[in-house]
Amino acid sequence: MPDLHRVCPLSELPEGEVRSVEVHDRVVAVFHHQGNYFAVDDFCPHQGASLSGGHVENGCVTCPWHAWRFHLADGAWADNPKLKIRCYGIVQKDGDLFLELSPPANTNPI
Ligand code: FES
Repeated sequence: MPDLHRVCPLSELPEGEVRSVEVHDRVVAVFHHQGNYFAVDDFCPHQGASLSGGHVENGCVTCPWHAWRFHLADGAWADNPKLKIRCYGIVQKDGDLFLELSPPANTNPI
């Protein structure tokens, strides 16, 4: 049984927006981009910037501090896809958006 964590009503995360959510011991950035929802750790592995403050384009978020780019779909670092940040599943249910916390969508996060 997956561990679901409510993010917000779908209506509160319109296209092009991002929301940062504290859950257990981490902060997760939830993006609404090009009609899909994505969730990744809101912590850049370089020096810790908040990825929810980054620019999103073509399925990637660019870190606001030093421009490392990560694919929202799988957390892969654009410059070296073998390295990934943790990403999470998203569930839409009864008009709300939920994070699916287990199992993680990728298994080798940075
Ligand atoms: S802190 Fe994100 S690229 Fe440096």
